[in-house]
Amino acid sequence: MTKFIICNWKMNLGNQDSIEFLNQIEMKSLNNDHQFIICPPYTSLGLVANNLKSKESDWHLGAQNCSDQDKGARTGDISAAMLKDLGCNYTILGHSERRQYHQESNESVKGKALKVITHGMIPIICVGETEEDYIQGKTIDVLTEQLSGSVPSNQCIVAYEPVWAIGTGKVPTIKEIETVHQSIDNVMQDLGFLNIPIVYGGSVKPDNINQILSKPTVSGVLIGGASIQPESMNAIIKEVCL
Ligand code: PGA
Repeated sequence: MTKFIICNWKMNLGNQDSIEFLNQIEMKSLNNDHQFIICPPYTSLGLVANNLKSKESDWHLGAQNCSDQDKGARTGDISAAMLKDLGCNYTILGHSERRQYHQESNESVKGKALKVITHGMIPIICVGETEEDYIQGKTIDVLTEQLSGSVPSNQCIVAYEPVWAIGTGKVPTIKEIETVHQSIDNVMQDLGFLNIPIVYGGSVKPDNINQILSKPTVSGVLIGGASIQPESMNAIIKEVCL
């Protein structure tokens, strides 16, 4: 089964840095078992799209957010149609940083996901518990609420990203990741959504990626910090592709 390697650049790598970064990445050594998806900031999408095309790369392009509206008086927003037009196949939605800093609700994530699907792209819908939820044993309750509220159909990827694991170097045990992914799959089945890929995100690095990817319930990874340094990105490619 193809595994997704989703690179979330967050608010990093402007135009020049993006190109310098891509020129240092060893895309040639790739095999077909992995689908790489780069999600740069909006401002670098066009340039990254052209760069991938000029290299005849099979890496895909994704955005990090989009509007839940089609067009009109939404200053500063970007629509799903605009992203599709730039060559995006995927859009990350409901990342915990957006839920935290932009008060994004499950309802709004669902609205955005519907627009993404309508425009022929795949939403990557993020869910995850805080450290407090985790300590109190509320992980599954929190995830169930987020999933029921924000996933509109089976045409999506779910990203399990424990908030306490993002950018911290802390990672759940493999057993915990497997158990949570199984629970997410159960919730999806209860909602009538079958065979949804579930990827893991939170402090994925070259030295833990293969162990995480080796589990059948893990359909891929979402990588933040390690995806913006050429050295660690090349190390990741080497780990998973060679
Ligand atoms: P991280 O971020 O890999 O830096 O922990 C992951 C994410 O936020 O998607």
